[in-house]
Formats: sequence, structure tokens, C-alpha cells
Amino acid sequence: MNIILLGPPGAGKGTQARRLVEERNMIQLSTGDMLREARTSGTEMGQIVADVMDRGDLVTDEIVIGLIDEKLSGDAAGGFIFDGFPRTLRQADALTRSLEKAGMSLDAVIEMQVDDEALVRRITGRFTCGSCGEVYHDETKRPAVEGVCDVCGGTEMKHRADDNADSLKQRLMEYYKKTSPLIGYYYAKGQLHTVDGLAEIEDVAASIAAVLDGTA
Ligand code: AP5
Repeated sequence: MNIILLGPPGAGKGTQARRLVEERNMIQLSTGDMLREARTSGTEMGQIVADVMDRGDLVTDEIVIGLIDEKLSGDAAGGFIFDGFPRTLRQADALTRSLEKAGMSLDAVIEMQVDDEALVRRITGRFTCGSCGEVYHDETKRPAVEGVCDVCGGTEMKHRADDNADSLKQRLMEYYKKTSPLIGYYYAKGQLHTVDGLAEIEDVAASIAAVLDGTA
């Protein structure tokens, strides 16, 4: 199955995508992760991307569409999870065309609904393992042993440069202005499913599983 996880910053897209990779052998395509990798490249493009991300603006459609296109040619027996892509109507149209070209199609779009107050708490409390990228939270998901990643045993924990109040305000504005129109776009295509992203992580995972298994 090929699916989109759609939702504002902090909705839990990355957290749920990592579970689906583990449990269903799917491939996570996170444009945010790809761009964070690009910004460390030391190139001029990397510097431009870093400035845009730190402000909380969206990177140009051309750049992200190019990043996704490069990945769609590989083998994906379990299907792709598009995490943080598409984010504009233009990206959504490009994804439809790219999937068609690769002989694939989109099976479901899962919108994760979370209110703004919870998003702020989630983003300001988030930290990740510097080695494997596992996502944690100061209050809701701490490692079993303080400072040690549950997944890989890494001990370097990181905070993202754009997880601050100013960037988050701008990221939310970009979401409501440019990304939320995708909800109507996919609803009209009969592909939209909505889950309560405010529920516990396990319960959100169960709601997503029900959509994928056709039991929702
Ligand atoms: P990106 O990396 O995609 O970030 P985002 O969309 O802002 O989403 P986040 O990664 O912040 O949140 P998430 O939904 O994955 O939540 P998470 O699971 O971590 O994009 C970053 C930037 O890159 C953009 O601003 C833009 O500049 C650029 N970009 C990326 N894609 C682009 C595109 N397509 N076009 C243009 N520009 C693009 O969870 C958050 C926290 O909450 C964690 O601490 C977690 O432990 C906790 N949590 C998760 N679920 C729950 C739960 N159910 N209950 C309680 N806590 C929970």
C-alpha cells in the first residue's frame, strides 16, 4: 500500500511512520528528513534549504518534488509512506503523476487531527536520537533508561533547530494556508481517512492500522 500521512507539525506523522516501517515493512519517505540531510551537505543549496526551514517556511516545490521522484524508482514491496509530502496542491498533482509513471497508485490519505495547543506542547518537548532518529518527548515518551535510546542504545539526543516558538508559528501558518487545502482535495477523490491524533500513541497506531486493514 502507498499512503500519505497528512497533518500539521507535531501531529505524530514521523512517530507513526516509524512504527509502520517496523510492523509492515513499508518505506518511509520523509521530505523533512531528506531536507535535514541536504542542509548538512555544505553546498549552496543546503544553506538555502537550512535558512528556509529555520524560518518555518516551505522549501520550493521543485526541490521537494525532485527529492521524491529520485526515491520512487526503488523496490517497495511493503509500499511507501509519504510523511510530510505533499504539502501543496502542486506537490499533490506531481505525486499523482510520479506514481502513475512508476506504475503505482495511492491507496489512502490519513489525516491526523490535533489541536494547536497540543502541537505546541509536542514540538517544544520533542527530542530525537542522534544515531537512529527515534522520536521522544519530555513528558509523553521518555527512553526507558534516561539519555539512552531504546532502539539503538545511542546516547546523543538532539533538538531540532526549527522547534522553537517563532518557527512553529510560521510552520503552522504555512500548514493552514498551503497544506490544509489537501484535505478537501483528497476527500473529493474519496481517499481521505481521518484519525484522532490527540489519542495515545498506541491508539493512534490502532486507528491507522484499521484504515490500512480496511476495518475502520
Ligand atoms: P518536517 O520534518 O516534515 O516537519 P513537520 O511537518 O513540521 O512535522 P514534524 O516532524 O515537526 O512533526 P510530526 O508530525 O512528524 O510529529 P512527531 O511524530 O515528531 O518538515 C520540516 C520543514 O522541512 C518544514 O517546515 C519545511 O521547511 C520543510 N519541508 C518538509 N517537507 C516539505 C515539503 N513537502 N514541501 C516544502 N517544504 C518541506 O511527534 C511530535 C512530538 O509529539 C514527539 O515528541 C512525539 O514523541 C510526540 N507524540 C507523537 N504522537 C503523540 C501522541 N499520540 N501523543 C502524545 N505525544 C505524541
